[in-house]
Amino acid sequence: MKTIVVIGGSKGIGQAVVKEQLAHNNVVSISRTLNSLEHPNFTQYVCNILTDELPVLPNVDALVYCPGSINLKPFKRMSVNDFTDDYEINVLGAVKAVQNYLPQLSESSKQPSIVLFSSVAVKMGMPFHTSISAAKGALEGFAKSLAAELVPSIRVNCIAPTLTDTDLSSRILRNDKLKLLHAERHPLKKYVEPEEVAEMVGFLMSDKAMSFSGQIFEMDCGLINLKV
Ligand SMILES: NC(=O)c1ccc[n+]([C@@H]2O[C@H](COP(=O)([O-])OP(=O)(O)OC[C@H]3O[C@@H](n4cnc5c(N)ncnc54)[C@H](OP(=O)(O)O)[C@@H]3O)[C@@H](O)[C@H]2O)c1
Repeated sequence: MKTIVVIGGSKGIGQAVVKEQLAHNNVVSISRTLNSLEHPNFTQYVCNILTDELPVLPNVDALVYCPGSINLKPFKRMSVNDFTDDYEINVLGAVKAVQNYLPQLSESSKQPSIVLFSSVAVKMGMPFHTSISAAKGALEGFAKSLAAELVPSIRVNCIAPTLTDTDLSSRILRNDKLKLLHAERHPLKKYVEPEEVAEMVGFLMSDKAMSFSGQIFEMDCGLINLKV
């Protein structure tokens, strides 16, 4: 049994990861609000990654960092503070989490790994995405460089999803008409469900993914990679 720490396990993709992993692993969630889930393998802490001390944990075999942002508006309406805020939650929060639990990950004898989240907006230029693509681009650079530094003992990978049906995207997917519209603009005629991402996270943390580190996995429903 591994101990998997999910920063942001109360909602969205992180919550789906928690649910998927509970049957076989100890899962620790750290977020500002509590998950209603109860399970003998589940522990949770209320903590703001940006302002609070992270809980002291004796063992960490895998770390998943989920907090992120969707701050979409025209560049001329973006302030420098918007860029700073997105950088803080997407990049510096991840840096803080990794730095905090690196000693435990380094001690792990259970094929330790780290999973981070980027976005399709890094590879594909989309209007109104200047701030989030800048932050996620930085995160991808961090993930690759960190993977090189921690090789061969700790694997680091990054998942870059397209639109995923979570709290974060609830305004974009707020009704059936918008859901259909956003599904239609993807070549696979769908957006992503959080459970699909959780399965990918599960794979990347597992012993089946021993050949993968320093990689960015696009879950793009064909958006970046297919021209149809
Ligand atoms: N959803 C999408 O369409 C989409 C698309 C591309 C990429 N992504 C990326 O995928 C990742 C997961 O996204 P998601 O849609 O699952 O997001 P979400 O629904 O907003 O969930 C984020 C999780 O992080 C926690 N969190 C946020 N700020 C925090 C803070 N300061 N301290 C501690 N915990 C914090 C939230 O819990 P609390 O509110 O309880 O703190 C929540 O559990 C993000 O990095 C996002 O950028 C998402």
